[in-house]
Amino acid sequence: MKSPSSLNTLKGLLPFLRPYVNQFYLAGLALIVAASATLAIPYAFRQMIDLGFSGQGSITHVDAAFIALFGVACILAVATAARFYMVSLLGERVTADIRSAVYEHVIEQSPEFFETTQTGEVLSRLTTDTTLIQTLVGTSISMALRNTLLFFGGLVMLFITSPKLSAIIIVALALVVLPIVFFGRRVRVLSRDSQDRIADASALAGEILNAMPIVQAYTQEPHEAARFKLSVENAFSTAMRRIRARSVLTVIAILLIFGAIVFVLWLGAHAVMDKRMSGGELSQFILYATIVAGAVGALSEVMGDVQRASGATERLMELLAAQSSITEPLAPQLLPPRSSNGATLNLSDVGFHYPSRPDTASLSHLSIAVAAGETVAVVGPSGAGKTTLFQLLLRFYDPQQGQIDIDGVNIRQLPLHDLRDTIGIVPQDTVIFSANAMENIRYGRIDATDAEVIQAAKMAAAHEFIEKLPEGYHSFLGERGVRLSGGQRQRISIARALLKNPALLLLDEATSALDAESERLVQGALETAMQGRTTLIIAHRLATVQRADRILVMDHGRIVETGTHASLVAQGGIYAQLAALQFQAT
Ligand SMILES: Nc1ncnc2c1ncn2[C@@H]1O[C@H](COP(=O)(O)OP(=O)(O)OP(=O)(O)O)[C@@H](O)[C@H]1O
Ligand SMILES: [Mg+2]
Repeated sequence: MKSPSSLNTLKGLLPFLRPYVNQFYLAGLALIVAASATLAIPYAFRQMIDLGFSGQGSITHVDAAFIALFGVACILAVATAARFYMVSLLGERVTADIRSAVYEHVIEQSPEFFETTQTGEVLSRLTTDTTLIQTLVGTSISMALRNTLLFFGGLVMLFITSPKLSAIIIVALALVVLPIVFFGRRVRVLSRDSQDRIADASALAGEILNAMPIVQAYTQEPHEAARFKLSVENAFSTAMRRIRARSVLTVIAILLIFGAIVFVLWLGAHAVMDKRMSGGELSQFILYATIVAGAVGALSEVMGDVQRASGATERLMELLAAQSSITEPLAPQLLPPRSSNGATLNLSDVGFHYPSRPDTASLSHLSIAVAAGETVAVVGPSGAGKTTLFQLLLRFYDPQQGQIDIDGVNIRQLPLHDLRDTIGIVPQDTVIFSANAMENIRYGRIDATDAEVIQAAKMAAAHEFIEKLPEGYHSFLGERGVRLSGGQRQRISIARALLKNPALLLLDEATSALDAESERLVQGALETAMQGRTTLIIAHRLATVQRADRILVMDHGRIVETGTHASLVAQGGIYAQLAALQFQAT
């Protein structure tokens, strides 16, 4: 009765169910026992009626029939509870496993993935879609099995009770199946749509809630509210279409079934009046017919849930199937042991465009050699490709042309973990977690002691302000660090990178939000920190880079000038112009 495509989609769940086969068998056993008990009840009833009420049997017979009925009820109670327990447990367990697996997989995706997938959408899949699967595993599957058993068991018992009446019922049921299959398919498509619309709304809300200050500063609240409402209404109308299809499904199923039953009962009543059937037999027949009809009704309900869950599974499996464009090397190489000077870095003829901009090169013919222990500054106009260079060093993207070596090893040949372990980055946009200062810095090296964290904070000139926070290092910094100033956030970010003690330190506008005095402090601290490691510094403020061993000037994804501050000023190129502007202004 289920369309093959939805069953095929649900196969994706098998790997998650496999670890729990034993629970599955136990649940199945409880289910069979409960269904058998249910099927035994009408038979016991008939005995009661025929023996007890028509005065044919002895008192002991009647007592035995009542005791048997109660016994069956006890078995039914225990088996039903056991089935509920096992199956609900499975539902919760499998959902928890899927959530973790999807999350684990998603956070390994390269930035390219997150350029196209909105975080809110991932969140919606992790919460709403997994809930549907929980309903499926925790309720629907067992309901489907139980009702299938009841359906076939009841049917067999019907035939035993009265073959002629049963034959009529079968014909009617055949007529029911066709519309159910048709509407079932429709419900499945609509439920996937419906989940997609909900994900859209979550994605929108996620983005806007992260940008509240801007929304309010530009007084766009009504606009945003309207936008969200539109998105929610979209989800609503898709859901309504699903609900309508499912309502039609329910009406058709129940009407047809009960229509058939009433008709057959009418025939049965006549049979009893003509003495072709006993009253007990007819009662038995009615009860079995009710069981069969109830089973079909329940199956049509369950089918809606199955369709919804298969829509959800499809989306989750899509996430699980996403392949990161950054791949681990097949035959990984190891880095040579870390030298006391830091790492060497070599870029040869690197060309790169972002995947979303195939026609615009962000870097072209870039060749840079940096010796171990050297401090190299990268300057240049906005959009020159400076941050892009850092992204390639971390292998957030792979260049389409050329090669990057660290300590003489092509970074594509290094295990990603080893590569990123050698690099510490202070990104242009600081990232602060909603945790306290201690935890935020310790993110650089999870096993660092408190003393090491404090030392890193001192080196980043962050110690003083952290101490003044209400609870010192244990002060909560707010979501995304909203309780700190921009410059304070930057210093936390620098401390985090220094704590990691990387061989290659990348600073992307790391001190851009600091006042001249704090920058001088951090600068001094960084100079000590730069010893024993190779450092690349991106900066717009040239005062920051004057003391670098070498300055690379980038423009349009290329290196246009190199030299020291003095030699570049003497050359009279781009750098000299920038320097003239900046030092004149200050
Ligand atoms: N994720 C991305 N997808 C597509 N294009 C991008 C992406 N990130 C950056 N770019 C483009 O690549 C070019 C180089 O950007 P990059 O961030 O490297 O500049 P930058 O030198 O760091 O500038 P700034 O000094 O303003 O930080 C720009 O033209 C930018 O629009
Ligand atoms: Mg940048």
